[in-house]
Amino acid sequence: MRRVLVLFAHPVLERSRVNRRLLDAIRDLDGVTIHDLYEEYPTLDIDVKREQELLSSHDVIVFQHPFYWYSVPAILKEWQDLVLEHGWAYGHGGTHLRGKITLNAITTGGPETAYKKGGYNRFTIRELLAPWDQTAFLCGMRFVAPFAVHAALKVVRDEDLADCRADYRTLIQALRDDRVDLERAAAAENLASELATILSPREVA
Ligand SMILES: Cc1cc2nc3c(=O)[nH]c(=O)nc-3n(C[C@H](O)[C@H](O)[C@H](O)COP(=O)(O)O)c2cc1C
Repeated sequence: MRRVLVLFAHPVLERSRVNRRLLDAIRDLDGVTIHDLYEEYPTLDIDVKREQELLSSHDVIVFQHPFYWYSVPAILKEWQDLVLEHGWAYGHGGTHLRGKITLNAITTGGPETAYKKGGYNRFTIRELLAPWDQTAFLCGMRFVAPFAVHAALKVVRDEDLADCRADYRTLIQALRDDRVDLERAAAAENLASELATILSPREVA
């Protein structure tokens, strides 16, 4: 069984419609650690050693966050800048993240149709996540496609998100249980809409 670390970043969780519900869908899973960065570090005073220990003791690293200005909430950028040290995460002796699997689980206000060439956001989510892809590559990690939930502002009730919640739970369980085709997951655009194609048959059933 792989150990899964969910690094969660939402500055106002009590106002969240989607991230809060997605998180609730995986809270009780064995082998899954949820680490709420804004709750742990409200003044952004990140404990680098502790974060590195958490990374070392997990095999799958999920960054769950709303998409803010085509990127991540501020604490995640701060986390990257401090925690991914030269000689630890990359560079000479920087081998601690090698072989770990990583992905972004994101929510967007914009609809799926906006995130393509010709759409009003002009780029796909994967293109906009290129810095995360390349950071993972530099650190020797396996970057797979994001789990992206679009049109987040349309979600009002739990029922609006029932399928997404179930799919997110299935994905996290499958990553934990080594039941994801990683090559297909790396080549996909959005695991939320392509889940069935990356799971082994038992997981789909
Ligand atoms: C500061 C800020 C920046 C945002 N930037 C984007 C953006 O670049 N693209 C987008 O689709 N939505 C953007 N949004 C909308 C959020 O992604 C959306 O509100 C969020 O994913 C909803 O998730 P939640 O219900 O968990 O808060 C932004 C929202 C805020 C507050």
